[in-house]
Amino acid sequence: MRILFKNIKELVQVREGEISFVSGAEMKILPSIKNAYLLIEGDTISDYGKMTDCPDFKVDKIVDASDKIILPTWCDSHTHIVYAGNREGEFVDRINGLSYEEIANNGGGILNSAKKLQQISETELYNQSKVRLEEVMQLGAGAVEIKSGYGLTKEAELKMLRVIKKLNQNYPIEIKATFLGAHAVPKEYKNNKQAYLEMLVNEILPVIQKENLADFIDIFCETGYFSKEDTEFLLKEGQKYGLLPKIHVNQFTSIGGVEVGVKYHALSVDHLEVVTDKDMDILKNTKTMPVALPSCSYFLSIPYTPARKMIDLGLPLALATDFNPGSTPSGNMNFVVATACIKMKMTPEEAINAATINGAYAMNLQDKVGSITIGKKANFILTKKIHSYASIAYLFGSNVIDSVYIDGKEM
Ligand code: NIG
Ligand code: FE
Repeated sequence: MRILFKNIKELVQVREGEISFVSGAEMKILPSIKNAYLLIEGDTISDYGKMTDCPDFKVDKIVDASDKIILPTWCDSHTHIVYAGNREGEFVDRINGLSYEEIANNGGGILNSAKKLQQISETELYNQSKVRLEEVMQLGAGAVEIKSGYGLTKEAELKMLRVIKKLNQNYPIEIKATFLGAHAVPKEYKNNKQAYLEMLVNEILPVIQKENLADFIDIFCETGYFSKEDTEFLLKEGQKYGLLPKIHVNQFTSIGGVEVGVKYHALSVDHLEVVTDKDMDILKNTKTMPVALPSCSYFLSIPYTPARKMIDLGLPLALATDFNPGSTPSGNMNFVVATACIKMKMTPEEAINAATINGAYAMNLQDKVGSITIGKKANFILTKKIHSYASIAYLFGSNVIDSVYIDGKEM
């Protein structure tokens, strides 16, 4: 099937050749073509250019995109889409004055989600999770990373990872899987965290390798969860199984997670609501992508990642949703982009770069998605009639998406 999109008001994020990610001042540049065409063949982008240069292609279908914009689908590099039930009760408890930390210390939080997940079957977990996956595709995501971490037993962690694998097999969206067994210390291991970490390493990692269940390894490096030393231990073990780190760091406190991440060549270090000058210095000139999760800051009323300072220092930045039942029950990348502009003072160009090409890098998918490039996946968003791409942020409460194409097919 060959489809030609013609009279596109603006074709955004066109990149020729290889590009891994953009940093610092480069993030302000969002290459585009006004009055453009785009040709796709099957699941692949095969040509694009100025409308005035559009050859007389033989195609199966023509889509008139007058007054509409085309941009690559969002690359959401940090989600926990596979979970059971919800945590609406805790949401109301927080409105009534309890803090996220207090709820967690009372046995709520991650442990609450783990209890729910342990009790349901793999089929039920799949059915609950696929609804969210379908929703994020409608919202313009064309690639997502999904973590385990609400299982916290061998059986339940593997159940989560098998659900992620099945979603990957059944849906056209690109999915990468991350093993986050070290998301919280289960009650039974309360006084013996090391034994829990050793269970993850000795009992779960070999099965992950055997069944090819994960691409990355993650740990919640945070006061009250896992220390810098725990992080170092786990990343070293993960390395033996070829799992690149993508880790939760600096959500509430800076305890050295960024440094350990960089030391073990983490693909990304995520959250970063609290970032010290030393952390920023450590990240400079590395291949580790800092990832900000502004919907989490919004939902929990915690600080936003200091994006302005980081980008002005020359660092790259990616944006992701963190879609999960506790801190961010939303998988809307359009809201993430808008919030990054409104609350973090990122320009629309920076935010779109962060949510596409840099997000793709943070999942090791930069060769497949993240830009309009010949040979990449035909994964893109066709907007409604809008004034410019800044409307995605400006009209923050509106749905500006007309349709989403993944693998060249309208979703
Ligand atoms: O990324 N911070 C750690 N984990 C998740 C939320 C966990 C939860 O509350 O369920 C996050 O925000
Ligand atoms: Fe997270």
